Amino acid sequence: MTNIRAAITAVGGYVPDYVLTNKELETMVDTTDDWITSRTGIKERRILKGERGSTEMAKEAVEQLLNKRGIGPEEIDLVIYCSVTPDLIFPASANILSDKVGMVNAFGYDLNAACSGFIYGLTTGSKFIETGVYKKVLVVGADKMSSIIDYTDRATCIIFGDGAGAVLLEPDDSGNGVMDAILRSDGAGREFLYQKSGGSQRPPTEETVKNREHYVYQEGKTVFKFAVSKMADVSYEVMERNKLTGEDIAWLVPHQANLRIIDATANRMGLSTEKVMINIQKYGNTTNGTIPLCLHEWENQLKKGDNLILSAFGGGFTWGAVYLRWAYDGA
Ligand code: UT7
Repeated sequence: MTNIRAAITAVGGYVPDYVLTNKELETMVDTTDDWITSRTGIKERRILKGERGSTEMAKEAVEQLLNKRGIGPEEIDLVIYCSVTPDLIFPASANILSDKVGMVNAFGYDLNAACSGFIYGLTTGSKFIETGVYKKVLVVGADKMSSIIDYTDRATCIIFGDGAGAVLLEPDDSGNGVMDAILRSDGAGREFLYQKSGGSQRPPTEETVKNREHYVYQEGKTVFKFAVSKMADVSYEVMERNKLTGEDIAWLVPHQANLRIIDATANRMGLSTEKVMINIQKYGNTTNGTIPLCLHEWENQLKKGDNLILSAFGGGFTWGAVYLRWAYDGA
């Protein structure tokens, strides 16, 4: 084993301009700003209008990242595109994005682990760096959730929004970078949060479209019950395994699905709210976008050596937590 770790050396983020507020949702479905705010913590979310896929947002995030790092797109070796809303079922959006940005020397692939996709991507991407095979790995989390949301279903349309974030992984031998990760999945949970048709099991037909099966279906209460315990448990487990206490943690970077799930996770870890990145009120649940968008927003406050725990829970079920030591002074 070498002592090379994969460090995040740059971040980028993008959300579309259109703001869909709780007030506007009140005019679309039978709901209230009060209900949404108290049950989820969300006040508004962003929507990408027009015939544009998730790679359009990812492109903005990646170009910003490359600019900040001062490198060209041709220097990227590998692109991992984490999304449940790729532009097309195939070819992979990693390819489409590489073409749009000019990452001509990169290969890439799409990764689907629902809301846990970004931490799965970060963990697998870090292995290519640790082995010394690649020097610059881009992990993108991008979702245009509005493309698969039923805006007549009040139980799901209030939660999700669109957005994208990206991080660059590079080798680090100074003790910073991705330190540990615990990733889990349980396919028995697949029927509680999924898209009923569109895949090979049930390809789209006039009937599936009429039944609105191409939209997200969620049994919210069941998902909530699992999310609240699994995300808190795995975050605590990764701390314990690395002998960390709440005192040692600078930031919790949680997937933004529901403020109550975030609070439960922070409580379990013994963290006060000031140490938790929360922007769910502005963006809702952007699925793969949530965690990199938080890193992007808090970048200026991050310091070299800060201990971060990233954790998520999502459809599948999938969940996990990553422990990483931040590698540069954000300011
Ligand atoms: O990121 C991927 C993982 N996803 C999650 O982590 C989401 C987890 N689930 C949740 O966050 C919550 O379950 C929701 C926010 C989706 C729903 O909150 P809840 O407290 O679990 O509500 P519920 O589904 O149990 O519904 C309670 C009541 C129901 O009415 P009755 O049957 O008690 O009369 C719903 O019909 O609230 C009603 N309801 C609404 N009322 C006003 C459901 N959605 C709405 C709404 N506005 N938008």
